[in-house]
Amino acid sequence: MADKFVDGAYASVKGYVRTHVLHRQLLEHLPAPPASVLDVGGGAGHQSFPLAQAGYDVTVLDPSPAMLDKARQRLQRLAAEARMRVTLLQADGENAEEAVNGRRFAAVLCHGVLGYLEDPEPLVDQLCRCAAGGGVVSIMTGNAKTAAVRPALERRWDDALSAFDATAEVGVLGVPTRADTVEHLSELLRCRGVEPMDWYGVWLFVDWLEFSGTELDPSDAEQVAAAAAVELEASRRDPYRQLSRAFHLLGRKAPS
Ligand SMILES: C[S@@+](CC[C@H](N)C(=O)[O-])C[C@H]1O[C@@H](n2cnc3c(N)ncnc32)[C@H](O)[C@@H]1O
Repeated sequence: MADKFVDGAYASVKGYVRTHVLHRQLLEHLPAPPASVLDVGGGAGHQSFPLAQAGYDVTVLDPSPAMLDKARQRLQRLAAEARMRVTLLQADGENAEEAVNGRRFAAVLCHGVLGYLEDPEPLVDQLCRCAAGGGVVSIMTGNAKTAAVRPALERRWDDALSAFDATAEVGVLGVPTRADTVEHLSELLRCRGVEPMDWYGVWLFVDWLEFSGTELDPSDAEQVAAAAAVELEASRRDPYRQLSRAFHLLGRKAPS
């Protein structure tokens, strides 16, 4: 799974677009560096290493030794200055507060993790606890409202019909995946003292192209950058963002 995700998904145009779009969306809300960032379920650090390069103090927390090994390998490719700003920590997100010894962070990220959990609440609870007063909580997860998109584009019409009211599917990594709605997740944050600020779509056109069978060339840097610019624009506008298969929700914890 770690190989499939790190060497497969992230080596694709969609992988590049995801990192780029989320990074830009994050920078609109994060305090200026150096500020502390906890990346829960941070995996190989694809989202948080660019933040370390931008001057943030990053802690990647993940339960998987295989993903943390990948993170360690990728860390070697960073300049020494950025590398020194990264800490890797092995723990379940559900035990994050204890694992970081009660430290509070200026931003807590959790991207592409909630969908793999049967019940998102214990993890959302920890994300909100680990954020400092005035800190940002950033969650990316599957959009339950667009579950019919992928089977329809793959011309699996029966699956598409039953997906309209579904909240789970077998995801792109081949394991069962749950999806959420912006409204429900916003409510979970609000109950824990984190006020939702903004939400974005993640992936639209690159997703539709891939699932309908068009191969995008990740080595064509000019095309990839142009696609990412279009995706970024679509991600913040209605109706486009509503049609994305994943969404990025950001909230701010009440000042303590
Ligand atoms: C699809 S990867 C996403 C990695 C990273 N957040 C990113 O965006 O590149 C999912 C990650 O969630 C981690 N994970 C699974 N269960 C978790 C849990 N209960 N708490 C925290 N992380 C978990 C996995 O080990 C894996 O690294």
